[in-house]
Amino acid sequence: MELGASKWVSTVTLAFLSVLLTVTLWKLESNQAQFSFPGDITNMILGKLEGWSLGEDGNKRGLKALGPNITSCHPSYGRKDLLVHCCPPGFQTPVPFVDFQFPDPQSPLRVRRPAHVVDGDYIAKYNKALSIMKSLPHDDPRSFSRQANLHCLFCTGAYDQQSHNAPLSIHRTWLFFPWHRMMIYFHERIIGSLIGDETFALPYWAWDIPEGMVIPDMYTNKSSSFFHTERDASHRPPKIADLNYVSDTNLSREDQLDINLSFMYNQMVSGARKTELFMGCRYKAGTEGYCNGPGTIELAPHNALHTWVGSSLNPGREDMGKFYSAARDPIFYAHHSNIDRLWEVWREANKHELDITDQDWLESFFFFYDENLRLVRVKVADVLDTIKLGYSYEQVHRPWLNKRPKAFFSTKTSSPNVEKEGEREQTTNVKHPLKGDAYVKFDVYVNLIDESKISPKFREFAGTFAHIPGGAATIDLKLGVSELLEDLEADQDETIWVTLLPRTPSCSNVTIGGVRMEYIE
Ligand code: C2O
Repeated sequence: MELGASKWVSTVTLAFLSVLLTVTLWKLESNQAQFSFPGDITNMILGKLEGWSLGEDGNKRGLKALGPNITSCHPSYGRKDLLVHCCPPGFQTPVPFVDFQFPDPQSPLRVRRPAHVVDGDYIAKYNKALSIMKSLPHDDPRSFSRQANLHCLFCTGAYDQQSHNAPLSIHRTWLFFPWHRMMIYFHERIIGSLIGDETFALPYWAWDIPEGMVIPDMYTNKSSSFFHTERDASHRPPKIADLNYVSDTNLSREDQLDINLSFMYNQMVSGARKTELFMGCRYKAGTEGYCNGPGTIELAPHNALHTWVGSSLNPGREDMGKFYSAARDPIFYAHHSNIDRLWEVWREANKHELDITDQDWLESFFFFYDENLRLVRVKVADVLDTIKLGYSYEQVHRPWLNKRPKAFFSTKTSSPNVEKEGEREQTTNVKHPLKGDAYVKFDVYVNLIDESKISPKFREFAGTFAHIPGGAATIDLKLGVSELLEDLEADQDETIWVTLLPRTPSCSNVTIGGVRMEYIE
């Protein structure tokens, strides 16, 4: 797709590309299409700008904080063809709750360490705790099955909102990071309490560094409680994880490691220079406040690795490949521990300047059982300081920081823009029934002319769309491209060329609602 880019360059510091994806009925006819911009792009875009810190708009509309009505639980769809029942026993009766309090600051800090470095004593201790957890009866909220169901409940829309009659689902929004932080925070404390260890900390699966790019050994030991059968057998070590996974490739180990690091750079740095790009869209109470726009890390590696770990023998690559079942696999908690760590890495790298200050986000709340079987109401504002929460991460190196891709200019003059001008994007209304709900993945490139540059290793790579179906039908994809445009020396160009590269056959069920450039101050 070709986008007009004139006039705006001097007035904005960051452009992002928004792909409106309708994961429903139309067909993506080709992998490359042209789109020409009507009118003055600058005015069109700037007219729509909204600042991140303008939190009052929700309150002005009289919206209340977003949170679940826990007596509203109902069966939900785990897959398109699968109704799941994840509600806790007795949910119809309201249970008294307490408001969240920070743990005693005197208690020892729980230090989360990479899963590939933890020692035998630690593994034995965690193994024991997990087997106790797995043996608890389902009516105990600390049981492993109930812990796993928490994810099912909040990730398939099993609850309605407290103040609105609309389902609540936390993925693909700015609740992604804080909700999962809460979930594993309580999980970690319950695990520790089952073995009377108040220093117990979850491990993290450090898939962003070469040493951690395989399934950590502790999860592959068949006689431990970390082992899980519902995984892709061909992805056991020494298979290197593909952080941008679609299907298996024949890449060498070195190439895969290298591509993974470049990909991490894009997702953590060049594609994540503005809050929404990293955190996801602003989800507020009510249907009006509904949004569906995941951040870079949520798309991939997060979604991509869920898919990569899950079993290819199951229709939705369960367990990890679908949200209703993902937390049944013990590796889920180490995966999310790393996601949580990368949130901190991003916040620190941006000196907390990009942290969300919107009250609607800060006041969003959820309920979790703690290690003392109390139901606790916890707000996003409560979980923004890990030290106050009593845990931290052992640091590891960040080799992806130096992986800013190189720009190539040799083919720039052969840009196809000119000769294709005048063609219009085909927006046919032909409807195709959605077949199944397979993983959907496409990659996005800017000014891709030389097909040998199809790889996140090259600067033309702008980002990815990786979607685990379930619930959402229309998704906004926003990709930060300002650093890329600078590096490609395209920031002064009249037009840019956008290529969408379908990576899964399911892309034929996808419609691109439109592509536009937008600017964030
Ligand atoms: Cu709620 Cu990794 O997903």
